[in-house]
Amino acid sequence: MRHVIDPMDLSVAEVDELLALADDIIKDKSRYAEVCHGKKLATLFFEPSTRTRLSFEAAMMELGGNVLGFSEAASSSAAKGESVGDTVRVVSCYADIIAMRHPKEGAPMMASMKSLVPIINAGDGGHNHPTQTLTDILTIHREKGRLDNLTIGCCGDLMFGRTVHSLIKAMSRYENVKFILISPEELKIPSYIKTEVLKKQNIEYEEVTSLEEAIPKLDILYMTRVQRERFFNEADYVRLKDSYILDKAKLKGASKDLAILHPLPRVNEISTEVDNDPRAKYFDQALNGKYIRMALIMKLLGLSI
Ligand code: CP
Repeated sequence: MRHVIDPMDLSVAEVDELLALADDIIKDKSRYAEVCHGKKLATLFFEPSTRTRLSFEAAMMELGGNVLGFSEAASSSAAKGESVGDTVRVVSCYADIIAMRHPKEGAPMMASMKSLVPIINAGDGGHNHPTQTLTDILTIHREKGRLDNLTIGCCGDLMFGRTVHSLIKAMSRYENVKFILISPEELKIPSYIKTEVLKKQNIEYEEVTSLEEAIPKLDILYMTRVQRERFFNEADYVRLKDSYILDKAKLKGASKDLAILHPLPRVNEISTEVDNDPRAKYFDQALNGKYIRMALIMKLLGLSI
């Protein structure tokens, strides 16, 4: 039984396999319509979500399976004090696979020790979001045709942004990938990402504060939201929330082949005037999330057509 808790739980070869499967699903969806017939996915979301939960559920439905679950801790027995371990142990009697989001870092890892079925981490606090990373990688691959020789700019809340942490870990495994880390001083990437990932693997990176200066160098611009829910006080959030707002003017110096990604939800860090720019790929990215989750569900359940 395999769990996916960290993006590094999947080897490069396995990621390649998932990308190929997702591409095939996109090409011919009808061939996959019954592959999960009789299987159930449980979505246990202790923290809000639109894309991750609904794309997991849509993924299972499009594979011919069924879904059950809850979308907030308050509607589960967690509200009565039940532990995550007990919740997961019980739900694993009802479902064949579980996707779980939790505000506490490490909760899905703990759940995997109690579960009778595969656990997928659907986001744990400021830590990891491996299926968002698979979504991002599928989008980069479909847009650029490669995963190597890329300069990736990550912009916004790099301290609490779990999608950025997971993306850096996963993309560091490909040749000649460079990162430009664009953030305010207070929201710089955590030092463990620098020491344990970037420096350890001799990955080229720079930390800057100016989005305008970085944009011309980028193949990928990965924008992120400043996450109100991770701040200890509102005043800091209010001071930092508008640090970067991508608009048409800022894109003037960008390459015509730039791909603009964002895990979403956005607040105001990408102006809506950018949505019609052909380089804006964040809604395609959200759609890709469903296809890569279909591929991952199939892999973890050991199913093929
Ligand atoms: N990208 C992402 O995780 O979005 P949700 O919080 O809506 O699931």
